Amino acid sequence: MTGMVEIDDVQKIYDGGFEALKGVTLTIEKGEILALLGPNGAGKTTLISTICGLVTPTGGHVRVGGHDVITDYRAARTMVGLVPQEINLEPFEKVINTVRYSRGLFGKPRDDARIEQILRRLSLWDKRNSAIRELSGGMKRRVLIAKALSHDPRVLFLDEPTSALDPAAIKGVEAAVREFHQRGTRIVMTTHDLHQARRLAGDVLFLSGGKVCEHTSAETFFNSPVSREGQAFIAGELME
Ligand SMILES: Nc1ncnc2c1ncn2[C@@H]1O[C@H](COP(=O)(O)OP(=O)(O)O)[C@@H](O)[C@H]1O
Ligand SMILES: [Mg+2]
Repeated sequence: MTGMVEIDDVQKIYDGGFEALKGVTLTIEKGEILALLGPNGAGKTTLISTICGLVTPTGGHVRVGGHDVITDYRAARTMVGLVPQEINLEPFEKVINTVRYSRGLFGKPRDDARIEQILRRLSLWDKRNSAIRELSGGMKRRVLIAKALSHDPRVLFLDEPTSALDPAAIKGVEAAVREFHQRGTRIVMTTHDLHQARRLAGDVLFLSGGKVCEHTSAETFFNSPVSREGQAFIAGELME
């Protein structure tokens, strides 16, 4: 049986010679929310970018829904949505146009009912005619989520979706993530907040130094991590 995302011995050496991924192999199936955890520089963003076709691996293969992300880029890319770490929105554009446009980029026909549904679930419908620059940080993050979901991907990747948000805004993003997960979208997210990972995730993929150290249930990871790197990470992060 093929998994939703199949990653086979993926390596990434950046132009400067830095080895960010050192042979990553894993399969992401349908299931619980997956938290992608690891120290800064572990390769989390590189891995997500590779799956979404934004970074070309220097070795190995990635397939999404059976489509190779390099040789069958368009089909693979259509199956994934990406909420990037940085907010990259057009400040003068209206919320609804931003989201509609994203859907169009994937060659999907206009579907106002679907866009309305997504905006309502993200509590953005009332803001649909506001310009992006009028929104709070939490609303902008939710617009990024709406954009990433606009073409109905099977898997949604969120890269640090709540960094620099206040507690109320974090709650809003977490509620949205849970809701879309419950409605059947596969969720993979990175976070540097282990309490958040504990609240949301059923499974954990722990990377360190460009390698997968653990891929297990959240309960196992937080209570009895098997790798030395995982033990050190949890001890360091949860003590703060
Ligand atoms: N475009 C790039 N060019 C060179 N090195 C990079 C580039 N992007 C990331 N790196 C390096 O690769 C390593 C992994 O980065 P990244 O995937 O962003 O880690 P994480 O998201 O886990 O913090 C880091 O050491 C980073 O400096
Ligand atoms: Mg990162």
